[in-house]
Amino acid sequence: MQIDGADESVGECSLTKQGESAEIGFMFLPKYWHQGYGTEVVNSLIDKAQTMKIKELTATTDERNRAAIHLLEKCGFQKQRSGWMVMLPEDEDDKMGEGQNIILFRKEI
Ligand SMILES: CC(C)(COP(=O)(O)OP(=O)(O)OC[C@H]1O[C@@H](n2cnc3c(N)ncnc32)[C@H](O)[C@@H]1OP(=O)(O)O)[C@@H](O)C(=O)NCCC(=O)NCCS
Repeated sequence: MQIDGADESVGECSLTKQGESAEIGFMFLPKYWHQGYGTEVVNSLIDKAQTMKIKELTATTDERNRAAIHLLEKCGFQKQRSGWMVMLPEDEDDKMGEGQNIILFRKEI
């Protein structure tokens, strides 16, 4: 993503459609946090999804990520369930079984 006045990408977002559902993702470089971009992007993804005949959006975040949790709840997402996500090792030196506690959020649109 680009914004006026910045000569670099400020972050990334995604909308991955599967049938009538889609998963959203978003991240910004730390220097662009707390300026409202997260709210703007999540609301834009919701608007975009509504034009694509998507009926349900999901988002997954680490349970410690208070910023993402607050942002998703502010944009109308509700906690669906919690779980443990295992990180698959990228090479054989990685420890098996490492992971994180995650929360799955959902919003009907
Ligand atoms: C999560 C993230 C996208 C938020 O982006 P942002 O541009 O800072 O969000 P906004 O400025 O729109 O703020 C959204 C709300 O979150 C709140 N917030 C921001 N950081 C917070 C924190 N650490 N704890 C609690 N609330 C927080 C803001 O105060 C704001 O609330 P308000 O509108 O009620 O005042 C950003 O921190 C980020 O990119 N983090 C790293 C990647 C990541 O976690 N991605 C999400 C994975 S699901």
